[in-house]
Order: sequence, then C-alpha cells, then structure tokens
Amino acid sequence: MGTFPFVLCVLFYVLHVTLRRFRRARRLTGYGPAAYPIIGCLVAFYKNRSRLLNWYTELLTESPTRTIQIRRLGAPRTVVTANPKNVEYMLKTNFNNFPKGKPFTEILNDFLGRGMFNVDGDLWYNQRKLVSHEFSAKSLKDYVENNLTEELDRKLIPIFESLAMQGDQKVVDLQELLRRLGFDTVCKFSLGIDPCSLDRALSDAPILKAFDTAALISARRAASPISYQWKIKRMLGAGTEQELKNAVKEIHAFVTNIIRDKKEKISSNGKSHGEDLLSRMIMAGHEEEVVRDMMISFIMAGRDTTSAAMTWLFYSLSRHSDIEEELVKEIGCVEDQELAHYGALKELRLLEACIFETMRLYPPVAWDSKHAIVDDVLPDGTPVGAGDRVTYFPYGMGRMENLWGKDRLEFRPERWFVEPNKGRRGELKKESLFKFPVFQAGPRVCLGKELALIQMKYVVASILKRFQIKPVGSEQAVFVPLLTAHMAGGFKVTVRRRQPHMAR
Ligand code: HEM
Ligand SMILES: *[C@@H]1O[C@H](CO)[C@@H](O)[C@H](O)[C@H]1NC(C)=O
Repeated sequence: MGTFPFVLCVLFYVLHVTLRRFRRARRLTGYGPAAYPIIGCLVAFYKNRSRLLNWYTELLTESPTRTIQIRRLGAPRTVVTANPKNVEYMLKTNFNNFPKGKPFTEILNDFLGRGMFNVDGDLWYNQRKLVSHEFSAKSLKDYVENNLTEELDRKLIPIFESLAMQGDQKVVDLQELLRRLGFDTVCKFSLGIDPCSLDRALSDAPILKAFDTAALISARRAASPISYQWKIKRMLGAGTEQELKNAVKEIHAFVTNIIRDKKEKISSNGKSHGEDLLSRMIMAGHEEEVVRDMMISFIMAGRDTTSAAMTWLFYSLSRHSDIEEELVKEIGCVEDQELAHYGALKELRLLEACIFETMRLYPPVAWDSKHAIVDDVLPDGTPVGAGDRVTYFPYGMGRMENLWGKDRLEFRPERWFVEPNKGRRGELKKESLFKFPVFQAGPRVCLGKELALIQMKYVVASILKRFQIKPVGSEQAVFVPLLTAHMAGGFKVTVRRRQPHMAR
C-alpha cells in the first residue's frame, strides 16, 4: 500500500471512529484477541490474515461461551459466534435486528446491485416471495428429471468417458469441471439458457472469468484489514477496482443480452416457452435492471456452492477408501435409469450422510455476517452494540468439540445416523440448522437447499457409479474461504472406469 492511500485511510478512519465513539457511551467487553487502544487487534489480525478461519476457530475454542469479539482499526466491532443459541437468536428469534446491513451490502453493491442476495427489508422480502415459487417440489422434479439429466448424459459423463479412455496420463482439475457444471446448471434453472461452459471444458470461458474476478475482488474488499481501503482505491480507479469495474460491465452485458432475447421471444409468441425464473420476472413486468441484478445474485448463490461441496466430498472419499467402497455399494443398488428419480435419490442415505459430513468440515459458505440495528444482548450474555457486525461461523462450528465430540476433525459419515452401528440402512439424524447452519437458517435460509442436495446426490452418484477418481499427489488440500470456499490450486485427478461391481 502506498503512503498516500494510507494517510487517506487513517484520516477517514479517525473521523469514522470519533463519530462512533461519541454515539456509543457503553464500553463492551468480552473474549477475543488482545485489543490495544485505537488499533485494537489490528496487528494480530494482520499477522493471521491468511489463516483467519483457523485463528477464529482457535479463539472460539478458548472462549467458554464460544463467542469472541474482534476489535480492530477501521472496521466495525465484530462478534463471531459458534454458539447455536446465539445463531438461533440472530437468524430467527430476533431476525429483524440482524439484517445484512450497509457495511456488507456496500461492499457487494457494485457487483450484486439490488439483487436479493444483497438487500434487506422489503426489497429482500418481495424478491424472496417471488422466487419461492421457483423452488416448488414440482419445478425441482421437472428440473432434475429433464434438464439436469440432459446436462449429465450429454456433457459431464461423455467428458469423464473420454478422460477414462486417456487413462492415467490425462490429469484434469475436477473442481473446475464441477464449477462449470454448477454454472451451466444454475443458468439453465434461472435464465432458461445453457451457456455451455462445460462443452469447452478445457478452454477459456470469458464470462466465467468475469464472474470469478468480480467475486474475488469483492471478497478481498471484505477481507482487507482496513475496511475503507477499497473505497479510496475505487475513487482513484486503482488496479483491482478497475478490474472489478470491467468484469461487472461484462457480466451486465451477458445477462442483459439474455434478458433482451427472452423479451423478444415472449413478445413474438405472446407467452414464454420455459417456466424459468427469468421468464416469470419479465412477465411480471419488473424493470430490466432489477431483473438483471436478481439473476446475478442467483447465479452467484447457486454456482460455486455445490461444486465446492462436491469437490471436498470426492477429496474426502479419496482419503477414506472404505467409505467410498460402501458408498459405491449403496449406489450400485439403484439402476442407471432410476438414478434421476426423486424417490431413488432420497433412498441414498449414506450418500446424504457423506454430503453433510463434507459440509460440516468444509462448509461452502464458511462464515456470514449481519449488522445489528439497535443495541442487543445475545443469549450467552454477549452485548451487541448498534452497528456491530455479528458473524455466525459454520466452519468453526463444525470443529467445536462441544458440538461434535472428540472425533470432530475426522470424516465420519456414521455420525449422521440415528443408530451408527446399524450401517447405511438406518434413519438419518435431523440436526438443528442452528448447530449446522451451512445453509443459514430462519427466514433467510438458503432457497436452493433441496435443489442443491438433490443435484449433488445425482451428480456424485452418477460419477461414482461409473468412474474411479484418483487424486494426483497426496498432499493435504487447502481450504480457501472467499465469497464461497474452494480448494486452493484446484483438485487434480485422473479418471478410470470403475469395474462393474457385484452390487447387493
Ligand atoms: C451446497 C450448496 C449450497 C449452500 C451450502 C448454500 C448456502 C447458502 C447460504 C449460507 C445462504 C445465506 C447467504 C447469505 O444470506 O449471505 C444461501 C442463500 C441463498 N441460496 Fe444457497 N446454498 C447452496 C446452493 C444453492 C443453490 C443451488 C441455489 C439456487 C439455485 C441457492 C440459492 C440461494 C438463494 C436464492 C439464497 C438467498 C436467500 C435469501 O437471501 O433469502 N443456493 N445459500
Ligand atoms: C429444460 O427441459 C425442458 C423439458 O425438456 C425443455 O423444454 C427446456 O428447454 C430445458 N431448458 C434448458 C435451459 O435446457
């Protein structure tokens, strides 16, 4: 960072803090890293900035209430919690006092605009009501049985077949394949078009790159030690801020074109063909910009989440061949043609347990923050001041001994069964969403939860049934939490055809 932006930062900060201090008479105390006058824990934060997840997890383990407070120069006071009672309180009981809040929506505004992911209050509520229809059991079933099967039969499985033919010489990044699948499928579901990024599996897809850039730079804004640094950079049109601008321009053009095409089709036919979200939004007469932003929110919500979970699932299985074997047996009991049927997918309990277990250790959304409107007190006694950031932390929660026991760091899908010793035939536990908030919980719980689970089951089952995935190298993979989490450097694997297994 140059001196000039730094001085500006400091000035901006001093002004900001002085105003805040005047407004807040009450001094709040609690567990957390040592905080010094004025700079708070900025030094410790800076030192740990590349391992915040584990740093927060360590601090939380040491706090008796599983809640900590982070105070640092140039950012709102942050309360991080891994306490289910607090999570329930902020996400449900007192939902209205914990919106995303301006500090968060400001960061993402250039990218997500007024899409539902990035707004509160009525703007959010109305969009939520409108899209809920899109997630009815019937539209999910239609989507899975028509569009998703097509995506697998025509694209993903042929790609795997060709990889298997090339044998162990051919190394592929499984994470990238799954991310492209995620992008294509969420576009099909919401926009009603297929961007075909998977067709060019091994070549560049500029629109994907634009989405990546926009997400990455927005996430870095949120993670920078001094929260207003990016505003100054944006004012100066500096480096990454300019890149963000260009990426957003490209994304807007991409989505706007699709909207205009769809509008034309609708006006020439008098009605739309598809039952996709976009047609519905256009038919309902929403403004073009609103529709555009909403679609972008949707694509971001659905794109990298499922691919991250599946990447970590394949990784975890590669380290637990006994579990993989058992899972292949379970999947082998379902005929190929039946795999896409809702009922058959529901029966794959061990697969579901493996998906949950993966997301416990590697939650696609590792943390998520809200901002309190008025002073409040969390159930564990932690005071929260107006304007404070309150973060619930699925990653840390998945690693708390008091929640998951001594073997919390081990991949053990059995823990999800009511009777672990009965094996894969037993019932699955219904864990509280407040103890396991990987999809968030309460009124703003992930809308795509059922869709995501069904899609992941279908994709993983289809791959495991036919292919063996072998990682190249045996290093421990590194979990990187950006807006959504991913595996650092991708997941390099080779693919083999699975020998027909004697099922049952
Ligand atoms: C494993 C996969 C997924 C995980 C772990 C996940 C997780 C989450 C989380 C944590 C949130 C809350 C984020 C926040 O408020 O800041 C959320 C919201 C949302 N998710 Fe998902 N998601 C997944 C897949 C999907 C899919 C496939 C879709 C759609 C196709 C989707 C659509 C949405 C939408 C629309 C919201 C916004 C809900 C609202 O603000 O009311 N998600 N998801
Ligand atoms: C989804 O499937 C339906 C029914 O086969 C089809 O009419 C529609 O075009 C498909 N959508 C996409 C985006 O492929």
